[in-house]
Amino acid sequence: MNSDELMKRPLEMLEEIRAFEAKDAEELERFRVRFLGAKGLVKELSAAFRDLPGELKKEYGQRVNAVKKAAEEKVASGRLRFGEKKGKKKADADLSRPVQAFQPGSRHPISLITDEIIDLFRNIGFNVAEGPEIEDDWHNFTALNLPPEHPARDMQDTFFIQRDPDLVLRTHTSPVQIRYMEKHKPPIRIIAPGRVYRVDNDSTHSPVFHQVEGLYVAENVSFAELKQTLYYFVQRMFGEDVEVRFRPSFFPFTEPSAEMDIAWKKGGEKKWMEIMGCGMVDPNVLKNCDIDPDRYTGYAFGMGVERIAMLKYKIRDIRTFYENDIRFISQFKSAR
Ligand code: PHE
Repeated sequence: MNSDELMKRPLEMLEEIRAFEAKDAEELERFRVRFLGAKGLVKELSAAFRDLPGELKKEYGQRVNAVKKAAEEKVASGRLRFGEKKGKKKADADLSRPVQAFQPGSRHPISLITDEIIDLFRNIGFNVAEGPEIEDDWHNFTALNLPPEHPARDMQDTFFIQRDPDLVLRTHTSPVQIRYMEKHKPPIRIIAPGRVYRVDNDSTHSPVFHQVEGLYVAENVSFAELKQTLYYFVQRMFGEDVEVRFRPSFFPFTEPSAEMDIAWKKGGEKKWMEIMGCGMVDPNVLKNCDIDPDRYTGYAFGMGVERIAMLKYKIRDIRTFYENDIRFISQFKSAR
């Protein structure tokens, strides 16, 4: 072949490549081998490079590159249509789909619900208070009217992280009541959100979960006010027609005590889910914090955030909150 013929070959091939349409994956593969294979035409063209005079080399090199690029593009676009290698396996993702450059995050449902709870109580004059997750015996138990040998201490299956003096992962947010009352005098109106820990693990109990504690201490606080406040809360949270019930209960730090349940439907059948404990602050608890129980009374409540989120979003297994499956977590949007 003379120089003229050599220079024309890449142009002819380019035309052939442009005109080529593979019918199926096998034909595409034959095309790939013919042009791009180890003994393919592109290799052959490149080899002819040395037979050309210097002044033509640059132009020729550009033409060969254009051939190579055109062939590679044909193969790539063909594979998008027919699937990967030799058509044996189809691509299961649509590789031509544009990427989403930004994946805006979303807040975890537990954070969303906690903030909603805080907002609802802030609206009626409560302020947020906080306490540590590692607690001493006094704040988690003793000051809450559970003396060392009190049988009610068995109610808590606790993670101890040190014995004598005892340090525990707090089993509830109630110690924040004590910490706050030790530093502030009535009137007191706080809510305390946070993580709590118990030795417990099944579809409705997690070893780590979240509570929001409430405490109101002033003169002449009554049980009626407690009920009314909680009605206000559940109606805003679940809607005006929410059905609730109070059951008499026992907590060492409240007297009298109650538990509040919310009705939900399971296949047309009515079920109750417990969402919080509550009651009038026990006079001994006030005394432990140097507050005069003859002058002041108060109420307290502690609710499970997961339970509320499960009811609100109709989630069956508490453990889904902690699996960090983005498909689950990103479904939730703030109501606000
Ligand atoms: N601390 C209790 C619990 O974790 C809930 C509670 C709080 C009950 C305040 C009464 C008053 O179960």
